[in-house]
This record gives sequence, C-alpha cells and structure tokens, in this order.
Amino acid sequence: MILRGHQNGNTLGKEKEIDDALHEEANAREDAPVAVMIKITVFGATGRTGRSIISLALTQGMEVTAYARRAADLDPWTGRIRVVQGTLDDAEGIAKAIEGADAVVAAFGPRKGGPQVFCAHATQLIISVMKAQKVRRLVCITGALIGEQYPTRGLFYRVMRRLLVRKAPHLMLDRDGQETIVMNSGLDWTVFKPPRLVNGAERPGTQVGPDLVIGPAARTTVGSLATAILGELLGSQFIRKTVFIRS
Ligand SMILES: NC(=O)c1ccc[n+]([C@@H]2O[C@H](COP(=O)([O-])OP(=O)(O)OC[C@H]3O[C@@H](n4cnc5c(N)ncnc54)[C@H](OP(=O)(O)O)[C@@H]3O)[C@@H](O)[C@H]2O)c1
Repeated sequence: MILRGHQNGNTLGKEKEIDDALHEEANAREDAPVAVMIKITVFGATGRTGRSIISLALTQGMEVTAYARRAADLDPWTGRIRVVQGTLDDAEGIAKAIEGADAVVAAFGPRKGGPQVFCAHATQLIISVMKAQKVRRLVCITGALIGEQYPTRGLFYRVMRRLLVRKAPHLMLDRDGQETIVMNSGLDWTVFKPPRLVNGAERPGTQVGPDLVIGPAARTTVGSLATAILGELLGSQFIRKTVFIRS
C-alpha cells in the first residue's frame, strides 16, 4: 500500500509498518482453512428430497452417509456413498451414521399408510447423538403448515392448519413437537418449511426466507428444496432460523 503526499522519515516508517501489517493479514487469510462442509449424514435418505440431496451433494464433492430402513433402496449409489441401515428409534444405528459428519439433514416425514407419529422422537434421538458426538449443524425439514407462530403464513394455510389440527391432531402434534425440539436444541439449526412439495428439478427464482408470504398457490420442487438445503449448509445464511421456501 502506498500513501501519497507529504513524506518525511516518520511517515515512511509508518507506511512500512502499515504495509507489513497488511501483508501479514493477507498471508494469514491465505493460510486460514476454508470452512467447507463436506461430510453430511442424511436421514430420510430414501425419500424424494433425500434422494435429490444425495445426488446434488455428490455433484458438489460432498461425502454422504445415508441412513435407511432398507439399505437396498439406495443401491443406485453403491460405492459412492456410505449407507447405514437402521430404524429411526435405533440409537446405535443413528450414532454410527452420524460418526464423522460435519452436518446432519433430517428429511424424513410420514408416508401414506405408514406410521404417522415418529418425527419428534426420532429428531430428539438424532439431536442427542449429535450432541454426544459434538456435531453442531442440523438442517431439518418440517412443513409450511407446522407450528403456530408464523404471521406471514397466508389465510389459506392458516385455515388448512386449523382443519388438520382437528382432523389429525396426533400428526400435527408430532410435527409441531419436532420443530420445537429442533428450535430448543441449542445446535446450529435451520428448519425448512416447504409448502406443497412437487416433483421436479430446481426452479430458477426460488425464494427462501423467514418472512416469505405463503399463499394458496405456493409450492416448491424437490430439486429446489434440495438445492436450498445444500446452499444453506455451505453458506450458513439462516442459522437458528425457520425459513419458508417458494418456487
Ligand atoms: N409432500 C408434501 O407436499 C410436503 C409438503 C411440506 C413438507 N413436506 C415434508 O418434507 C419432507 C420431505 O418430503 P418428501 O416428500 O421428500 O418425503 P417422502 O418422499 O415422503 O419420503 C419420506 C422419507 O421418510 C422416511 N420414513 C417415513 N416413515 C418412516 C418411518 N416410520 N421410519 C423411518 N423412516 C420413515 C421414508 O423412508 P422409507 O423410504 O423407508 O419409507 C423416506 O425416506 C418431509 O418431512 C415431509 O413431511 C412434504
């Protein structure tokens, strides 16, 4: 750096000091490790979003561990990811899956005809294991209908929520509970709250944020959700925030 203008011995000495300090700072920056998140563990890996996250993470050079009830469901990725087989109430299996991870993604949710109430308990178990293994970063998917406290959720979604709370209180209690457990975890968490989730690749113009208005036509694609989640893992824009997404 060159300071122009009036120069005497003193100012030249000062210039050198400043130059040296700036060089030192620049060298320190170059030597500093670049914080890149490379090892992720995905729960709900066999679902639509889980699969999309795996594919995308591999293209971004991440190492993926996928946890699944049936390991064979992940055969398309044999040799390219680590697969741990187990159920979501198996603490030992979950611990094995999280070992060595930089971040965990919880992408599971009830399937039609399957057990509807397991998300809160499974998430609590995953968080306990993360704490024991000192893994701090968690991204969890719930949904736009989940939780009471969201003023930007439009009238349609507020009415839908009221109906669902009446029709399937056990399911809503489970997902509300899941969200609360994540928010109280003390971890570096982000909750993604998709509205209607449709199949498809990432859509340009997808928006993500805590204050997005979610109207009746709001929807996103599985590809957009997966892209946003991986972007968040690398960019950490929404630590300890619940965010809506809309494509
Ligand atoms: N569908 C929507 O319109 C919508 C809207 C908003 C939010 N969401 C939420 O977004 C997330 C991702 O949705 P998605 O459509 O990608 O999921 P999905 O395709 O329905 O897949 C669900 C995942 O959860 C797992 N799972 C289901 N029941 C399980 C159980 N009892 N024990 C262990 N694992 C179980 C499934 O494993 P298996 O393959 O072994 O069954 C699968 O990996 C979910 O949390 C979902 O609730 C969905």
